Amino acid sequence: MSPPTSLSHPITLANGKLTLRNGAALAPMAGMTDVPFRTLAWSYGAGHMVSEMVTAKPELWDTGKSRSRRVLIDGVTPQAVQIAGHDPLVMAESARRLVDEGVELVDINFGCPAKKVCRRAAGSALLSDIDQIQRIVGAVASSVDVPVSIKTRIGLTLDDSEGTRAAIAAQNAGAQLIVMHGRSRACRFKGQAQPHRLREARQHIDVPLLVNGDVIDSLSASRAVSASGADGVMIGRGAMGQPWIFAQLLGQPMPDFAERLDVIGRHLQMMHEFYGDEAGARIARKHMQAYLQCWGAAALIPSFMPLTDGAAQNQWLRLHRASLLGIAQSAAANVVVQTPFAA
Ligand SMILES: Cc1cc2nc3c(=O)[nH]c(=O)nc-3n(C[C@H](O)[C@H](O)[C@H](O)COP(=O)(O)O)c2cc1C
Repeated sequence: MSPPTSLSHPITLANGKLTLRNGAALAPMAGMTDVPFRTLAWSYGAGHMVSEMVTAKPELWDTGKSRSRRVLIDGVTPQAVQIAGHDPLVMAESARRLVDEGVELVDINFGCPAKKVCRRAAGSALLSDIDQIQRIVGAVASSVDVPVSIKTRIGLTLDDSEGTRAAIAAQNAGAQLIVMHGRSRACRFKGQAQPHRLREARQHIDVPLLVNGDVIDSLSASRAVSASGADGVMIGRGAMGQPWIFAQLLGQPMPDFAERLDVIGRHLQMMHEFYGDEAGARIARKHMQAYLQCWGAAALIPSFMPLTDGAAQNQWLRLHRASLLGIAQSAAANVVVQTPFAA
């Protein structure tokens, strides 16, 4: 087992009101980091997890999608839900409702570049109106007695410092945790993340800072933390197909291949149960694609994709267990051991 890493340290928020159990957080990803996936990520040590984005609009509060994104997960702390919107009063009301439902941390999305979010002047579009960011965070923070965090980007483009200005404004308005994705709004998800661009924000804010973008293993986590000066990392796409990655980031033992296959089986079942058989089987396809790609077994993806019900998907996994173990074992024979996080 590797020694404990600096990411293993708890992160205290709001003068001790809340503690994140470590600095290896899972990034919210709509359609991916749902209740089943977060349940697994937590079991492998994720120190902080935020729900998929929920709109603050009251008229959409009771849709099935919004309700399923707000489901709290037993044993997870803090229970954190992310909201997106642009009207401070509506956001504050939404935050109050969340707290009534048991939410312990409200995260505000100032980073999403998606058109349907930005068209309504929400998400990363608000990086062009820092005063509005301050008004939103102020309204939310003063309406609930739980910590508020924000997730944003380094700027509108790589040439400005709007992300730093947003972080300062949010802290001044009461945010207790800042997450910053090392890409600009214009970059969307393209190009390499630039963690060193968080340095400026780091110098101006005292609350904990998490760096996000292109963290895929212990080495990239280590680099992102030293380049940015952040207190921890938030990992998104790098966790897809490997919810056990948090164990690696924390220097804990990784599950062996047989256990990983058990986890995949459990994940399938959780999706079938959480969404119902048909919807669960549909959502399972995206995750199985990620698992098989990570596994080095992409050639098997086409045989899984046509399966439309839970029983068929479970059976597929049982039938392919031996060949997947074989693929993993021969790949492991050629594996290069990675540098542990703590240098
Ligand atoms: C499919 C997908 C959905 C996402 N949904 C959200 C979201 O709901 N809220 C949010 O703040 N960021 C969202 N993001 C952005 C991620 O949280 C993260 O900032 C981004 O993927 C960069 O991190 P990574 O390089 O570790 O993936 C999403 C990203 C992807 C790829």
